[in-house]
Amino acid sequence: MKSKELDPDILARILRFQQGELNEYHTYANLAKLTKDKNNRRILEKISADERRHYLILQNATGKEFTPNGFRIRFFSLLGSVLELSFALRLMEKGRSLI
Ligand SMILES: [Fe+2]
Repeated sequence: MKSKELDPDILARILRFQQGELNEYHTYANLAKLTKDKNNRRILEKISADERRHYLILQNATGKEFTPNGFRIRFFSLLGSVLELSFALRLMEKGRSLI
């Protein structure tokens, strides 16, 4: 099903999720680079790859491409680097549930 066949409200929600997946892909990748712990780095890289895959699935469904939201990515990457990583991740997931 392509985006022009979808209900506009549903399409708008899917597009927000698609943008979120792209932002999270880049944010997790940044956090992985900043993390010194090898095990945490490997987990963050895996999550980043999963988020990229989710983005590509939604991109295939909507036919739309997005650019990453640089501000949001830098914000959560900075939080992850100066605060406890788990706190930044919880905050990011909470922001996602508000979509
Ligand atoms: Fe995802």
